[in-house]
Amino acid sequence: MPKTCDVVVLLSGTGSNLQALIDSTRTGDSSVRIAAVISNRADAYGLQRARDAGIDTRALDHKAFEGREAFDAALIELIDAFNPKLVVLAGFMRILSAGFVRHYQGRLLNIHPSLLPKHKGLHTHERALEAGDTEHGCSVHFVTEELDGGPLVVQAVIPVELQDSPQSLAQRVHVQEHLIYPMAVRWFAEGRLALGEQGALLDGQLLAASGHLIRN
Ligand code: GAR
Repeated sequence: MPKTCDVVVLLSGTGSNLQALIDSTRTGDSSVRIAAVISNRADAYGLQRARDAGIDTRALDHKAFEGREAFDAALIELIDAFNPKLVVLAGFMRILSAGFVRHYQGRLLNIHPSLLPKHKGLHTHERALEAGDTEHGCSVHFVTEELDGGPLVVQAVIPVELQDSPQSLAQRVHVQEHLIYPMAVRWFAEGRLALGEQGALLDGQLLAASGHLIRN
């Protein structure tokens, strides 16, 4: 039996990245076990996907707390009850406090729908088009205190077509997200991926600043 890596997934929305992760764990040889899915929104469709897959779920409403630190402290307590080796942000639309990020240093991954460091924050597909970018994509990175700024693990690059709209770009980027996020999580679970002093390490080698690059 391979050793399993317990993962807690945090999300706020539809959870298509969670679904990709769930699907990737069904191969039989997966070392990833999703111990729980937690959302700040009780009505997030991602929670339903988790329930459908027989995964424990929790909802923690940020509006019930006075301030970010108080919410993050309660969230840490909830997450740590599952004792995960890795915490995966999959469309968790909250800015995390420095204390939260430090607590999970080296075991907190995020996916962002742009080729970081380009287009941090929201509305990334619109902004890529407005900027006239010829390439766009998505990034998986370790989370540090800098918003959307931690060491990159993997990026998938797609060409921007003349006729692209924000919606068509989002759709193609999503396809790539669903490939690279399960891959990065698997690397971590297998002990191949770690956060070193200088950046992300894959198989003990420092990754390039862009992370592992996949061109389409
Ligand atoms: C994904 O596109 C993810 O990259 C983005 O939210 C979406 C969630 O989709 N995350 C961020 O923008 C974080 N800054 P999903 O709920 O279908 O997985």
